[in-house]
Amino acid sequence: MSADAAGFDGRTAFISIAYLTASVAFILGLRGLTRPETARRGLQLAALGMLAAIAGTLVNHEVVSFTWILVGLTLGTLLGWPLGQKVAMTQMPQRIAISHLFGALAATLVGIAEYTHHVWGGLELSRVQALALGFEVLFGALTVSGSFMAFGKLHELLPGRGITFPGQNLVNLTIFTSSIVLMGYLVYEPTASWAFFTMAGLSFLAGFMMVLPIGGADMPVVVSLLNSYAGLAASATGFALGNAVLIICGALDGASGFLLSVLMSKAMNRSFGNVLFGAFGSAKKALAAGSTAKGEMKEISLEDAALALRYAKSVVVVPGYGLAVAQAQKTVGEVAEVLEEHGHEVLYAIHPVAGRMPGHMNVLLAEANIAYEKMIEMEDINERFPEVDVAIVIGANDVVNPAARNDPASPIYGMPVLKVDLAKRVIVLKRGKGTGFAGIENDLFVDEKTSLLFGDAKATLQRLLTELKTHT
Ligand code: TAP
Repeated sequence: MSADAAGFDGRTAFISIAYLTASVAFILGLRGLTRPETARRGLQLAALGMLAAIAGTLVNHEVVSFTWILVGLTLGTLLGWPLGQKVAMTQMPQRIAISHLFGALAATLVGIAEYTHHVWGGLELSRVQALALGFEVLFGALTVSGSFMAFGKLHELLPGRGITFPGQNLVNLTIFTSSIVLMGYLVYEPTASWAFFTMAGLSFLAGFMMVLPIGGADMPVVVSLLNSYAGLAASATGFALGNAVLIICGALDGASGFLLSVLMSKAMNRSFGNVLFGAFGSAKKALAAGSTAKGEMKEISLEDAALALRYAKSVVVVPGYGLAVAQAQKTVGEVAEVLEEHGHEVLYAIHPVAGRMPGHMNVLLAEANIAYEKMIEMEDINERFPEVDVAIVIGANDVVNPAARNDPASPIYGMPVLKVDLAKRVIVLKRGKGTGFAGIENDLFVDEKTSLLFGDAKATLQRLLTELKTHT
């Protein structure tokens, strides 16, 4: 065997092993991410998998220029590093949206480059290749514009509420169907570049139009759906380039994004169709239900709140978005510690969409070293609320709104919520009379047994901690 042939075999073997390692690491990494205890290891495994995939790709003989790869690597690092370091946890959804935008942009550009390379370079383009490239660019372009809109809305650069107009669903359906028809035509006539570029343009428009009517609490479902589309586009790129690792990790991304969207819709008691075409959280609906809550909020002094906690045998902490904003997770852990030292039971009620991203509350509480077994999922804690002496709501609003159970006119009606109003006593920590993400009033705050401690959650908890330490 010649040295060249041996070198080629060695390289092929290295690429295959690297891709296999990457695929296994991605699957095990995802598995690790299903449980808080193994999540960190899962993430590290997935990162290792990505390193193996990059190493395998770099030794591929199809690499034309390492200079351009180096330029891309430098630019990516310069952009990615500060993004990872500086973006606050509360801004994670828009950070994820922007990641999808870049991922989908890469897939779309690769698809366009491959297509033009073949068609304009006079190379043969089979029907299967045309289908893969069409699929890649269709979902890629849609994800680019959709993610851009999602980022703009979540970062409040664009109006956060859904924008609707008569006949919108029909217009959107026509645009999307037209791009699918053009993709079909490409399979019939792969060299029809007019069809390819019109399809790309229409898909790009479809992304904008798809996210336009969506707003309010539905944005995370859309971001996760776009994640799924970005995965599908990556998988199609794998088919177009004959790259196994892209097919596998694209499929994993597509499937997990889709499952997450389904789970989130379920957590909000919404169907997919309703999320995409229902314009949930629209200004109109919020206004219709934006009734003022029936009653006055009752303030409580810090001393009285501490006294109530001192006499409570069982306490349930209900964290929400405000806890994340105030970064009060460590302080809440310290308050719980003092109570536990005096024999009180302290548990944490976890709503699946509390905060601004799936698992937000679990991550925050884990940061404060709160044991996982004290974090009780919604279905389980809801049964226990009638026996709870004090429920202390910290920066949660929509996820504890009884209107979701009692008021069919409410835009969040049907969304499963924490039944905090069933507890014997409720203390709410919030800064003022602000509404939550859905922009609607909350009757829990004016309930007979509810008292409010106004102020930033961290500052209030610190004062409460001092009070508890001094007088227990
Ligand atoms: P929200 O309904 O957003 O309510 C947050 C509350 O925190 C507000 O009432 C606000 O009242 C208070 N707050 C804000 N900053 C505070 C601070 N520094 N100290 C004390 N309180 C503070 O939160 P939630 O109950 O967690 O509900 C989450 C909502 O977001 C749901 O509608 C959900 O569907 C949606 N959403 C969820 C996700 C995921 S996947 N988790 C992603 C996007 C959106 P004041 O202004 O009066 O202080």
